[in-house]
Amino acid sequence: MVEIGKDDLPSEAARRDYSIVVRDVRKSYRVGPVDVEALRGVDLKVPAGSIVALTGKSGSGKSTLLHILGTLDQPTSGQVLLHGTEVSTMTDLVASQFRNSSVGFVFQMNNLLGEFSASENVMLPGLIAGAPHAAVQDRARKLLSAVGLGARLNHRPGELSGGEQQRVAIARALIMAPPILLADEPTGNLDQKTSHEIQELLMHICRENHVTMILVTHDLDLARRLPSQVIMEDGRVIQGDFTH
Ligand SMILES: Nc1ncnc2c1ncn2[C@@H]1O[C@H](COP(=O)(O)OP(=O)(O)OP(=O)(O)O)[C@@H](O)[C@H]1O
Ligand SMILES: [Mg+2]
Repeated sequence: MVEIGKDDLPSEAARRDYSIVVRDVRKSYRVGPVDVEALRGVDLKVPAGSIVALTGKSGSGKSTLLHILGTLDQPTSGQVLLHGTEVSTMTDLVASQFRNSSVGFVFQMNNLLGEFSASENVMLPGLIAGAPHAAVQDRARKLLSAVGLGARLNHRPGELSGGEQQRVAIARALIMAPPILLADEPTGNLDQKTSHEIQELLMHICRENHVTMILVTHDLDLARRLPSQVIMEDGRVIQGDFTH
């Protein structure tokens, strides 16, 4: 069970209303004289609390879409609304503040800071946001216990297994209690058994806390275990739930 205090969860209204809305999102990259069209008109409407597997061949645009959803990148055209807030046109500063409180990320490479303990790594986004140290520390401890690392709080990433490191990254992604979690091949570097454990953990946490999750994976067996599916090809969503 994930023990997260009620106060840490998104408000009732936020949970009820929250959704991801993507309207005709396009993204081109200029590479020398060539325009690469990474996204060619994506439309999606994801209800709050959905747990979605995003699949598609390499180069189909999955990571590009995830970065745009997470305000790490802007679309060339089109709209992205997160919980009714248009994020596609935010300035970098506003986007980074919004992102810190609203979106958690888990990547294939966990990007944990090697000099810091598991607990400190998890606390960092909370401290950057200016939350009180004791409260952040307490929540980091709870989250690390929830992902099965209650006995590893003071280990540095180099002293943890790959699966344990990814659990730390999951706890870090949840420290601000974001209503949305974006995971880009979070188990890409792990063996199958550990992959399934991490995936189950992610699903469990999202269900318990009514978090909307989009999880990119190449593992179709893993994708099928998720309640909803979206499949991309050549920069478009070609099949799945939530198209409109
Ligand atoms: N910064 C960039 N500059 C130019 N082209 C890019 C850039 N980022 C991505 N692309 C191109 O956009 C397309 C989509 O890339 P993206 O990384 O979104 O694919 P993906 O579906 O995540 O693939 P994979 O499964 O291999 O991770 C690819 O053709 C890629 O070459
Ligand atoms: Mg990718």
